Amino acid sequence: MGSTSTYRVTLVPGDGIGPEVTTAAVRVLEATGLPFEWEEVEAGGEVMVKYGTPVPEHVFHSIRRNGVALKGPITTPIGGGFASANVAIRQKLNLFANVRPAKSIPAIKTRYENVDLVVIRENTEDLYSGLEHIVAPGVVESLKVITETASLRIARFAFEYATKNGRKKITAIHKANIMKLSDGLFLECCRRAAKEYPDIQYTELIVDNLCMQLVRDPSQFDVLLLENLYGDIVSDLCAGLVGGLGVVPAANIGVDVAVFEAVHGSAPDIAGRNIANPTALILSGVMMLQWLGEHEAASLVEKAVHDALSDRGCVTPDLGGTATTTEFADAVVARLKQLTKA
Ligand code: NAI
Ligand code: MG
Repeated sequence: MGSTSTYRVTLVPGDGIGPEVTTAAVRVLEATGLPFEWEEVEAGGEVMVKYGTPVPEHVFHSIRRNGVALKGPITTPIGGGFASANVAIRQKLNLFANVRPAKSIPAIKTRYENVDLVVIRENTEDLYSGLEHIVAPGVVESLKVITETASLRIARFAFEYATKNGRKKITAIHKANIMKLSDGLFLECCRRAAKEYPDIQYTELIVDNLCMQLVRDPSQFDVLLLENLYGDIVSDLCAGLVGGLGVVPAANIGVDVAVFEAVHGSAPDIAGRNIANPTALILSGVMMLQWLGEHEAASLVEKAVHDALSDRGCVTPDLGGTATTTEFADAVVARLKQLTKA
């Protein structure tokens, strides 16, 4: 175990299924017995009405002060309305790396076995710059911004991550055949970083080919290194390979600050019914425990989740079961208590 002082963590419940899955994840994390103190803050559409912005300053202050947050998803209006609260949090806190492991879970049968890859997504620029304008009626431009600084930073992060986590191979993903300048620069930065880490194997693949290869044989991939938009799309694809959005966690990492949230969104189609799968956010909590240096607690929670998933009676409807969010969380907590007693 790491230090025993209290961990102050900012908690952003979000909206849609956010409050349901964050409640479940907090219960499981509390059951580790570690001393957590949760500082709850709101962000999103309702906050917009009150503060005129989906992410008020006090949310950033809280996350900066604590250095760590656990976050539920936040709905973003489509085709109008305010900018994404999720993107704002990542950009403003400079959470430049989005780490999304997709690993087969033995208890969940999918078309694939032995998937064990990590998506590393640049998190601050690309088409998420939010720079769009109407050139003339019927003509719009969206600006894709790629910088040497951000590309080199994410590439070095990926190689450092691979080195520290025993990963052997990094595949940089691009469309530099079409976007010769922007994706060309990204690739050039990946190649520079690759030279600094000769022990890690380095390859490149065009993004459309990657999608085809992923559905044919995902076990051939180790670490995927992508710009923001490709990373967003490919990580949902990878979630589908291992059981869906209900089970894949993620971490947004910056310098001395990290925000842990699942890959999935607010799932309005199932919100408020207590049927969302909290596994993705609980496993994001496991990534948080690792980040805090609580490796033993992290392994125990992960094992408790895998044990609970192997009981068909425990799982939520997305995995073919009938359990509620609360019942699944109960099952994980019960298994965790058994494991900590053992
Ligand atoms: P989504 O990820 O919310 O849902 C896609 C599908 O997966 C839905 O059928 C949903 O029911 C299912 N699903 C997602 N999470 C699940 C879970 N934990 N358990 C069981 N089933 C689950 O994507 P969608 O519908 O495209 O987006 C909804 C909203 O979420 C949008 O406003 C979007 O902007 C926002 N969003 C927010 C994110 C964040 O807060 N980081 C990330 C992605 C989307
Ligand atoms: Mg996404």
